[in-house]
Amino acid sequence: MIKRFFSSTSEVPDSIEVPRHVAIIMDGNGRWAKKRLLPRVAGHAQGVDRVRDVVEACIERGIEYLTLFAFSSENWRRPQDEVSRLMELFVMALEREVTRMHRNGVCLRVVGDLGRFDARLRELIAQGEARTQENNRLTLTVCANYGGRWDILNAVNNWRRDHPGADAEGLAISEEDLASYLSMSYAPEPDLFIRTGGEQRISNFLLWQLAYSELYFTDTLWPDFDAQALDQAISSYRKRERRFGRTSEQLLER
Ligand code: FPP
Repeated sequence: MIKRFFSSTSEVPDSIEVPRHVAIIMDGNGRWAKKRLLPRVAGHAQGVDRVRDVVEACIERGIEYLTLFAFSSENWRRPQDEVSRLMELFVMALEREVTRMHRNGVCLRVVGDLGRFDARLRELIAQGEARTQENNRLTLTVCANYGGRWDILNAVNNWRRDHPGADAEGLAISEEDLASYLSMSYAPEPDLFIRTGGEQRISNFLLWQLAYSELYFTDTLWPDFDAQALDQAISSYRKRERRFGRTSEQLLER
């Protein structure tokens, strides 16, 4: 059964000890490599190793959903050589890591406009998802050729396709309708958003779903982001008061 979650604004989570869903923009691979006089792709390769570490650190901490921005719709604008090397890295990562993920109880999902990826990569994605679909310790979502605006437009267009008479019937799309058509409708909205690499932007990541997430920006470059850096982000998150539009007094009454 596919679980669907709606807006986290309707409920205040019981506990904020550990975020249930962490979403990360993994930035700074190129600068990490440049500082070491290495080609940019060496930074991406190191980045894959950090993905493995952070997935395992999330499992140890009881985080249920981890969502990573691996490749944005805009990343196609990078030099052709870097794009090709990134694609090779994705293929290698899937070939090498899925068995370990499966052993660790990770359910892998890849969301985005996958049609532009080559057949081999799409096949590995489908195989990885199928093999891990019953796992429930951590749902790892990799956003690939993903854009938040694409996701919202796709949801609206698919809702309209499924409701051809909507205009004539005066039927308007609701928040819940839209949320259920988004590519990550199987997950609750992120509690904690992390961006490494020093920039303080959302960069067309999960635009709808980040509405009430706590935002955490760090100068640490992604290839240096380890379990300790994750703990710092979680510790910052714990100190925040999440009100979801309510007052502090209302939260105390609960
Ligand atoms: C941003 O760093 C990073 C990317 C565009 C690619 C992210 C990919 C990985 C970490 C590896 C693969 C991931 C998975 C899930 C297998 P940047 O190149 O923009 O760095 P810069 O800002 O320093 O130039």
